[in-house]
Amino acid sequence: MTRNEENAAVTAGGNGTTVVVTGASGRTGSRVARAAGEAGFTVRAASRARGFDWGDASTWERTLRGADAAYLMYPTDIGDPAAAEGIGALAREAVKLGVRRLVLLSARGEDQALPAEEALKGSGADWTVVRASWFAQNFSEGPLVEGIAHGELVFPAGEVREPFVDVRDIADVVTAVLADGDRYTGRTLRLTGPRLLTWREAVAEIAAETGRAITYTPVPAPAYGEALTGFGVPAGEAALLVEVFETLLDGRNAHLTEDVREVLGRAPRDFSAFVREAAAAGAWGN
Ligand SMILES: NC(=O)c1ccc[n+]([C@@H]2O[C@H](COP(=O)([O-])OP(=O)(O)OC[C@H]3O[C@@H](n4cnc5c(N)ncnc54)[C@H](OP(=O)(O)O)[C@@H]3O)[C@@H](O)[C@H]2O)c1
Repeated sequence: MTRNEENAAVTAGGNGTTVVVTGASGRTGSRVARAAGEAGFTVRAASRARGFDWGDASTWERTLRGADAAYLMYPTDIGDPAAAEGIGALAREAVKLGVRRLVLLSARGEDQALPAEEALKGSGADWTVVRASWFAQNFSEGPLVEGIAHGELVFPAGEVREPFVDVRDIADVVTAVLADGDRYTGRTLRLTGPRLLTWREAVAEIAAETGRAITYTPVPAPAYGEALTGFGVPAGEAALLVEVFETLLDGRNAHLTEDVREVLGRAPRDFSAFVREAAAAGAWGN
């Protein structure tokens, strides 16, 4: 299926409406901005470099005013205790300014994310929550890349299985929701990839594709947290990640959903395809 065919389901809805995309320089936001632009939306990219700061409410109005919809992602982690307050306040401001359709990126199986979801729902917006599994792109963009590039991924995931989802599928789903919002208003979509893999199997796929020796070393979450603080991650952020990993990685997410197929009318992208493309793009220095 070509990219254009993949997007056929979403091209109908752009109609020049303006969508604010938060985290537009990040993993999901950059893809949402691209997919929404291809679907005909006018995209207003939002990040600190563009004058939007989640931590400074005085920057929100100029980002939101005149827009019709927004993709909301909370930096660091949606389970951050500050996320509920920030998302609730921004969503209420958006509704006040007439930005009614709000799509929030949340995390599947993360209990700590529920207050932020509730804050969105209580804002009066036409809301949709997109609960994503672990991103495939965690292996190619972000904190896991360095370990893989050095030949050993140390991570507190034991031998649990996860249906890694490609962030491009998240972007396509978000764009489809923006395009056909009434259909998905008040819905919580749970996005997975098409296959369950352990972290060990995921690393083995990357090793096979790159032809390099890469191992996976599972560690307890608290030891991982200590390593993070050793690398300079603020103690509070590391503690939250330890808490999240200890619950999220207990096997609760080891099952697939059909929501990507329901929204896009096609299967989610497979992890192997992601690995091939990321390796070809030089994600792991090969
Ligand atoms: N990783 C996963 O597997 C996974 C799975 C499910 C859900 N999630 C959720 O995904 C979210 C992260 O999304 P992502 O991976 O797409 O982001 P990301 O790649 O980590 O990028 C973070 C984005 O947020 C922006 N940002 C950082 N601080 C900001 C601030 N104070 N104000 C405004 N913008 C700020 C950054 O841009 P600037 O630095 O330019 O401002 C950047 O665009 C988290 O809420 C996480 O819980 C992650």
